[in-house]
Amino acid sequence: MGEWVSKKPKVLVTREVFDETIDYLREHCEVEANQEDVAFAPDVLAKRAADKDAIVCSLTDRVDAALISACPNLKVVANIAVGYNNIDVAACTARGVLATNTPGVLDDSTADLAWTLMLGAARRITEVERYVRNGDWKGWRLKQWLGVDVHHATLGVVGMGRIGQAIAKRAGGFDMRVLYHNRKRVDAGIESRLNATFVGMDELLKQSDFIVLQVPYSPETHHLIGAAELAKMKPTAILINSTRGGVVDDAALIEALKKGTIRAAGLDVFENEPKLNPAFLELDNVVLAPHVGSSTEATRRAMAMTAAKNAVAALTGAMPPNLINPEARRV
Ligand code: DGY
Repeated sequence: MGEWVSKKPKVLVTREVFDETIDYLREHCEVEANQEDVAFAPDVLAKRAADKDAIVCSLTDRVDAALISACPNLKVVANIAVGYNNIDVAACTARGVLATNTPGVLDDSTADLAWTLMLGAARRITEVERYVRNGDWKGWRLKQWLGVDVHHATLGVVGMGRIGQAIAKRAGGFDMRVLYHNRKRVDAGIESRLNATFVGMDELLKQSDFIVLQVPYSPETHHLIGAAELAKMKPTAILINSTRGGVVDDAALIEALKKGTIRAAGLDVFENEPKLNPAFLELDNVVLAPHVGSSTEATRRAMAMTAAKNAVAALTGAMPPNLINPEARRV
């Protein structure tokens, strides 16, 4: 009798995911999972992926042209993230490999985190927490740890996609004026529901008390906020980056925070993360978080399952719900 050969497609899951994600994938595929959760070095990733039909990966995995051409059976790359700047989508498309992401399921959690950073920076929450923990609190004083109000201030949202809209929606509860800038103006219905006014980038930078960045990272948005843009902001402005490192020129931001060009920042993402510029650690007027925008249990479970479903759909010839490159189906 010949050797039994699995007919199931092979999937590599590059980082730790939830058990139910693996169970679901196992119903449809032969699964190789990296449940130790240490990111594969590029050469190891290429070796592991070489015979796979699908890769379920994270934003920490670089899926470039070299990796794609090292995987002759590859049909789908399913990213467990809405952002997909870690994937060379053009290279996927050229090889007929479908690429998918996880939009929708993380909008509210990511918006909540942007707001956490806004409120935290405005009310100096990390500074006061350190003060209490250090045992330095000796009593109440009228002028102690004065922050700034979020309510009735002007919010500027840069990037009015789904997450940007979820951030703007929350501003209604704080009686804020909402400005936004986007490549394309959003529908009038959305503007009126969010009470948001479309303005040019310069206007937004000049008028906003809080500026939240929610654009995807790409060569076009690289250093969208640099020294020139920071100089246009109010000296009282607070900048929030909860989207991707590289959208802000971190060195320029550090200078601005040191000089008081702007008041403060709240950052969930950094250039070269996790090796952030050490100068950030010396600054009190920045609230720092380790890329946890979507990190609630429910959301991360939903993201992993969404990616798994995208992968299985692609492997079974169905249309993946979150296909980034529909042109790849025609290759
Ligand atoms: C995303 O989905 O792009 C987030 O950054 C992951 O947390």
